[in-house]
Amino acid sequence: MPDVVILTGAGISAESGLETFRAEDGLWAQHRIEDVCTPEALSRNPALVHEFYNKRRAALRDVAPNAAHEALAKFSAEFPGKILVITQNVDDLHERAGQSGLLHMHGELLSLKCTRCDFRQAFSGESHAEMPCPDCGAGRLRPDIVFFGEMPYFMDEIQKALSGCEVLIAIGTSGNVYPAAGFAELARHYGAESWLVNLDPPQNHRDFQRFFQGRAGEQVPLMLDELRRWLTRA
Ligand code: APR
Repeated sequence: MPDVVILTGAGISAESGLETFRAEDGLWAQHRIEDVCTPEALSRNPALVHEFYNKRRAALRDVAPNAAHEALAKFSAEFPGKILVITQNVDDLHERAGQSGLLHMHGELLSLKCTRCDFRQAFSGESHAEMPCPDCGAGRLRPDIVFFGEMPYFMDEIQKALSGCEVLIAIGTSGNVYPAAGFAELARHYGAESWLVNLDPPQNHRDFQRFFQGRAGEQVPLMLDELRRWLTRA
């Protein structure tokens, strides 16, 4: 059972140059969620959905992990088995920073899954609507992304980790989307502390006892120094 659960959102990848969702010029200002991120959108206009994720997949080739990803991965290696990182992000920047103990609760850009069976495959190219499932042949391959209205991944493991952790830390997330937006409140219900690293106060900032305000690249290393003191306290 991890002592610390760290939830990350688009804000941790912002300093690598990836767009967030709810900034003024963010992804949801450029695209309607109903057009690109719902099961109905996929059946109505699969080409548009694939185009949206192909663009975001291609953008991964031009970015690299930033100081926040690196600090988090290094810290997790210092406390093996004690840190679980749950990311809402679908990019691979945590992996590229060497992060261990990582769960992608909203899926991954570099993966496709079948619309009918459990088939999944790593994928970094251009996907399109007419990719028959190589396993069942009946379904089509789709982005392995949790659309709005679909169940996030790993919820059993997440629920268990939140019920037993000592600290829940949220980094770079606006607290708009449940269930992730409720993790701090849930962890506190089980007696954990809740810390926040964010550029500005998110929707659910009242759920947190400590707030490291500022850019993730600056604040995550400072927060981790504090967390080290907390974990090694007598
Ligand atoms: N450092 C720290 N925080 C930052 C930075 C930065 N450099 N840049 C932006 N932020 C903060 C913003 O202030 C905002 O609170 O990151 C947060 C990003 O919020 P969103 O754009 O809403 O992204 P996120 O919270 O990850 O969205 C959650 O919503 O659309 C769904 O599935 C999608 O996983 C996503 C989920």
